[in-house]
Amino acid sequence: MTHDLAADLLRHGYHAIPDTRRRAGDPPVCPVKLLGNDALVVSGPAAVRRFYDPSLIRRTGAVPPPLAALLFGRGAVHGLDGDEHLHRKDLFLQLLDDADTTLQDLVRRHLGSALRERRGETVSVFSLLAEVYGRAVLEWAGISVRRPGKVGRRLAAIVDGFGISGPSYATAWAARLWANRWARGLIREARSAAPSSPSSTSSPPSTPVEAIAAWRDPHGDLLSVPVAAIELLNVLRPAVAVAYLGTFAVQSLDDQSQQRPAVAEDASQRHAFTQEVRRLFPFVPALAGIARQQSDWDGQLVSPGQRVVLDVPGTNLDPGSWSSPHTFSAERFVGRDVDAFELVPQGGGDPAEGHRCPGEPATIAMISATVEIFAAAAWSVVERGSTYPRIPARERLRIRVG
Ligand code: HEM
Repeated sequence: MTHDLAADLLRHGYHAIPDTRRRAGDPPVCPVKLLGNDALVVSGPAAVRRFYDPSLIRRTGAVPPPLAALLFGRGAVHGLDGDEHLHRKDLFLQLLDDADTTLQDLVRRHLGSALRERRGETVSVFSLLAEVYGRAVLEWAGISVRRPGKVGRRLAAIVDGFGISGPSYATAWAARLWANRWARGLIREARSAAPSSPSSTSSPPSTPVEAIAAWRDPHGDLLSVPVAAIELLNVLRPAVAVAYLGTFAVQSLDDQSQQRPAVAEDASQRHAFTQEVRRLFPFVPALAGIARQQSDWDGQLVSPGQRVVLDVPGTNLDPGSWSSPHTFSAERFVGRDVDAFELVPQGGGDPAEGHRCPGEPATIAMISATVEIFAAAAWSVVERGSTYPRIPARERLRIRVG
């Protein structure tokens, strides 16, 4: 039977890529059919290095448009290439420069008070974190809303449509349409409060939402309102989506309870624990690119226009980089330098030169704060379950806060 990877991803979720590679004998470069066309699935640090070479791979059009419009929005940085990408990416990197410190403090504060308020109650860890991270990122961005928890849940719903099947796909689209309208209103409001001339001598933007409203393209023109709104959501939405990993982190604290005292007290232990959570638990199943030119990938020829799919979880579990890759071992990160191509839950390479996530330091800071608070708090697990292998995998972790 001929398998098509797109159909397998819908049907088998995170199992689709490892099963496909296993059937072919686990090569680092594996020919597949994708949406009826020839494509390659590539895995491991050497493949990551090539995947992030812009002379080999472009991104425009690589993610099927309906999925790209749902997850990132039309006109988003994710689908740009060349100078336009570098220019937009630089704006994201400047914006997020100090966000890790601020978000870490905000997560500590909001999570600490949420756990105090819910003492004696049974709560879903995912919902609690989506709400807390939502509050934190809205406060950082300078957006004040009456019900930040509700905004957090709606932003999380967009991400839940990733697997593009079942009722969460429709819910995700409803949330996306609401979010686009809401964010356009925020951009218009920020612009009406500030003059729009590039040479204006007004004071610089004081909040992230004002900064994005003032972003310009390489020609010096303001981004259109819909695109600025999409990019604002491209900061807010993934910050809430950190709740997927945050839930895995809390669950890992339950599994590795002997490590709780060390991670509660020691920032470097927390960092190692966070890195291991990011390495081991799946979120992004794959990244898609399109070959620019004929190239040889470990003996497999790719023609221009063919899709190349980077196996993200497979790279994070590559036995060439990680010993006992399926075992949780935070110690593997203690005193270890991690190069830019071997640990890729948020993409690989240099974020300033390619598409690697600009929110990685903020993600690490938010998960570390979560681990710090939960390691020191009193709670017990009431129920555990998982939607794995559905994409995105969400842990049904319910705890009693004590
Ligand atoms: C504060 C949190 C986050 C922010 C603000 C953020 C923002 C972004 C943005 C703007 C991009 C597009 C970059 C580009 O195309 O050049 C991006 C890419 C990406 N992000 Fe994040 N993100 C965050 C958290 C996460 C999390 C939790 C994950 C998953 C573990 C993640 C995984 C990725 C991946 C895989 C890419 C694409 C890399 C590529 O295409 O090469 N991000 N992120």
